[in-house]
Amino acid sequence: MRGIASIILTLSLVLFCAPILWGGFSWVIDDFVKSNDFTGKTVVPFCTSMSSSLGDSGRHVAEMTSSGNWLDGKRFGTRASDTEVQEWIDSLEIN
Ligand SMILES: Cc1cc2nc3c(=O)[nH]c(=O)nc-3n(C[C@H](O)[C@H](O)[C@H](O)COP(=O)(O)O)c2cc1C
Repeated sequence: MRGIASIILTLSLVLFCAPILWGGFSWVIDDFVKSNDFTGKTVVPFCTSMSSSLGDSGRHVAEMTSSGNWLDGKRFGTRASDTEVQEWIDSLEIN
């Protein structure tokens, strides 16, 4: 996590993707969010899943920190292509 923290320090945009497990993001993501400072950064969580929606999972992890400007994320199926994900990222019009 320390290595990730030092990378995050250099970023203005943090997009992260994780699988939905048992209806939400796993404790690994909880730890990631709690142990990093997103001050001054735009944060966009997104996920892959078999069928579950992102639902409140993005908001739930956002509530674990007071830092960062958190945007709504998106759910992709397990077979989402790089192109599909890239097109969504481009549609956010943030950099
Ligand atoms: C332990 C476990 C729990 C899972 N729970 C869910 C779930 O609640 N809803 C769902 O749609 N998919 C669920 N999945 C499917 C994963 O979200 C899916 O495998 C993952 O998004 C695909 O990423 P991968 O290609 O890295 O495995 C679960 C998978 C595992 C292994």
